[in-house]
Amino acid sequence: MRIDEASHADLEDVLSVERLAFGEDDVAELVRELVDDPSAQPLLSLLAWDGLCPVGHIMFTPARIEGAARDVAVSILAPLAVVPGAQRGGVGGRLIEEGLRRLAESGAELVFVLGHPEYYPRFGFQPAIPLGLSAPYPVCPEEAWMVMELRSGVIGSVRGTVLCAHAMSRPEHWRE
Ligand SMILES: CC(C)(COP(=O)(O)OP(=O)(O)OC[C@H]1O[C@@H](n2cnc3c(N)ncnc32)[C@H](O)[C@@H]1OP(=O)(O)O)[C@@H](O)C(=O)NCCC(=O)NCCS
Repeated sequence: MRIDEASHADLEDVLSVERLAFGEDDVAELVRELVDDPSAQPLLSLLAWDGLCPVGHIMFTPARIEGAARDVAVSILAPLAVVPGAQRGGVGGRLIEEGLRRLAESGAELVFVLGHPEYYPRFGFQPAIPLGLSAPYPVCPEEAWMVMELRSGVIGSVRGTVLCAHAMSRPEHWRE
């Protein structure tokens, strides 16, 4: 398997992975909107390939923390998708690790995700709300809103509410 940055030419492959993984169109539509959303730039979009077949996709978009005492370089991981035939084979994990590596290189300090509370902690994510870092909208269960730091010492030094890209800033995107 190889992981490459997704270009504009890969958009239909990205959307197809999202549709197959989620079994509906909503998340693919969000991805399409994020690609065209100036407030979501610069985004990081990675595709996992098994030969000529796209099997997984991950996207990270910039965000900021309202109420924080200083500017923190923040990113949101959403969405992550692996096609049903490739699930539970480590593709999701490799996409997360590669994405976090690239984000750290580009200077990101905190990464947030709304996702399965049993899955993301294995990569270093922890519940964000007890750390004083709220989601853009109320989330349920609260443990599904998680954060990890890419620069040590940031967690604990900032508190506030995460504000995300415009296209993601609708309550329907914040239901786990
Ligand atoms: C969730 C998802 C991205 C994981 O990708 P993956 O490549 O299958 O995951 P990996 O192979 O890296 O890791 C496998 C582990 O993930 C965990 N896992 C997979 N799906 C899970 C789910 N829905 N809930 C909780 N844990 C899950 C399992 O613990 C599994 O470990 P096991 O095989 O030892 O049981 C993928 O299953 C997927 O695309 N699902 C549908 C779309 C989705 O729900 N995306 C949102 C993620 S928040």
